[in-house]
Amino acid sequence: MKITAFGVSQEERLIFEKWAQTHPEVELRLVTEWLTATNVTLAAGSIGVSAFQTGQYDAALFEKMAALALPVLAIRNVGTDNIDFAAAARYKIQISNVPSYSPAGIAEYVVTLALQLLRRMPEVERLVATDQLLAARALTGRELSQQTVGVVGFGHIGQLTAKLFHQMGARVLAFDAYYHGAEPTWLRLLPDLPSLLAESNLVTLHVPGVAANRYLLNATNLALLPEQALVINTARGNLIETPALIAALRSGALAGAAIDTFELEDQIEPAVQQRQPISDPLYRELSALPNVLVTPHIAYHTNVAVVNMVQDSLANLLAYACNGQLQTPVTR
Ligand code: NAD
Ligand code: COI
Repeated sequence: MKITAFGVSQEERLIFEKWAQTHPEVELRLVTEWLTATNVTLAAGSIGVSAFQTGQYDAALFEKMAALALPVLAIRNVGTDNIDFAAAARYKIQISNVPSYSPAGIAEYVVTLALQLLRRMPEVERLVATDQLLAARALTGRELSQQTVGVVGFGHIGQLTAKLFHQMGARVLAFDAYYHGAEPTWLRLLPDLPSLLAESNLVTLHVPGVAANRYLLNATNLALLPEQALVINTARGNLIETPALIAALRSGALAGAAIDTFELEDQIEPAVQQRQPISDPLYRELSALPNVLVTPHIAYHTNVAVVNMVQDSLANLLAYACNGQLQTPVTR
């Protein structure tokens, strides 16, 4: 049996190879490049493909997979907003994701970003880099235990993030448009986004980047936040109207932002891959703001997560090979 994996980093290669030692029946082919309609031919004869990328999985890819009799795409991550599901259904391609490879790791990253913003580390680092130590000393931080944290999306990551903030002494609110579970004793679930924003000194996003969620935080909604609020986005770039965020930061209405997922991530990716300077004006403007921390979509990246991503993706492919059923199928 053959499996082909795309977008394989050096770190993942070691995990794939270790897995292969315990699965001698599987012939693994590991490809560094992202999966495309062109290079998918490398997977001919496989039971399916494993892939990891923020770029698109489009109709041309699924048409080619159907032509090559590759019935399964097993992505190694959570988010599915980059998949054309209508096209996948048209070509009868089944898709799985890894829905919970390490939500705790992402929650810890959010807390890391929050503490950095509260203690004004983006400003401190810039001042220290230019020997303005007195100016850095004059910056007053804020304490997490005095903040109200608003968690938008109370799923795998949102729940663990909320819990960590609660354990560190913050007052925690959450809003989830589809959550029907009980309200934990330590948190208040709010009925809508505007009520959450109106009370949150720090808002963190944990909803999928589906089309319906585009610009969840826009000029109107950002204006609902209390003065000097902080915004953290580790979910998807399209959730925030970046020019509106920049305007709120420039005017001083917002005190800071941490953006792990940038709105035009796809557009800057070619420069990232070629290790070239990023010329996109929106990226340049956002990342130059003194109170903004930009990170390159790395909230997921821990040793625990990478192992689970590889193993769970392969488990989906093996399950499909054994009984025609994916373990964690996704259709949207
Ligand atoms: P999840 O599906 O467990 O939770 C998402 C929650 O959002 C669900 O409970 C859903 O009901 C809710 N929701 C959807 N639309 C909403 C809306 N408009 N308003 C309020 N709630 C809404 O997903 P998760 O595992 O918590 O992941 C969330 C997102 O985080 C993923 O979709 C992905 O885009 C992103 N993510 C980013 C990284 C990273 O490295 N930066 C890593 C993993 C996941
Ligand atoms: C996800 O798992 O959805 C992520 O955002 C990680 C990413 C690098 C694909």
